Amino acid sequence: MEMIRIEAPPELDMPVGEAMFTQRAIRRLDPCRPISESHLKIILDAASKAPSGGNTQPARFLVVRNKDRIREFGKLYHEAWWAKRRDEYGWTGKDDIPRGSVYEMPSRLADEIVDAPAIILALSVDGKQAAHSVFPPVQNLLLAARALGIGSVLTTLHAQVMERVYAMFEIPREVEFHCCIPLGYPRGRFGPTKRYPTSETTSWERWTAKPPWA
Ligand SMILES: Cc1cc2nc3c(=O)[nH]c(=O)nc-3n(C[C@H](O)[C@H](O)[C@H](O)COP(=O)(O)O)c2cc1C
Repeated sequence: MEMIRIEAPPELDMPVGEAMFTQRAIRRLDPCRPISESHLKIILDAASKAPSGGNTQPARFLVVRNKDRIREFGKLYHEAWWAKRRDEYGWTGKDDIPRGSVYEMPSRLADEIVDAPAIILALSVDGKQAAHSVFPPVQNLLLAARALGIGSVLTTLHAQVMERVYAMFEIPREVEFHCCIPLGYPRGRFGPTKRYPTSETTSWERWTAKPPWA
């Protein structure tokens, strides 16, 4: 495959700080507003610019926009989401989710993903260490989507559905699945997000020492 150079598209003019500090998990997606092919290309071009080990670029992306296919995949996503909760907590239905827990919104996404305007599967070719080189592109993808006003959320699947997902999209066995990213214009708002302070999550020179701003 021949490598190419491309310039930054003028649509990506949001300051990088604003994109990073307001990007968040958007799970309530507007089902009536499709995402254009040109915006999807910008998002994927941004992903392609990320670093990878030895510039091997093992990341591959499978874009799904067809409504019927999204519906079909959405059912598998729903099954996978509940399979994960069953494995983790033994939950089998909505009544098991504690009120106000972090799982309320994700469970809603599991219901509503069938209406997502687009879904991107992040995959990789070329072996086992590829995961390290897939998530830098995925993060670029999330930030580029944010800069275009498009909401996204990084999600995973469950072994229970993987064979059917591979069959549905005709993904060869040697290709590895990493995550699934529904995309759409938000019904909610972007950021701000809450995170642990870097004074607590950073060590300075040695593990037991805090950074100067602590
Ligand atoms: C590895 C990984 C797996 C995730 N899996 C899911 C998921 O299955 N379903 C979901 O709704 N969100 C999922 N998320 C999104 C996280 O819940 C979200 O990024 C986190 O809660 C921070 O949200 P915020 O940016 O809105 O504050 C996942 C994120 C990561 C990085």
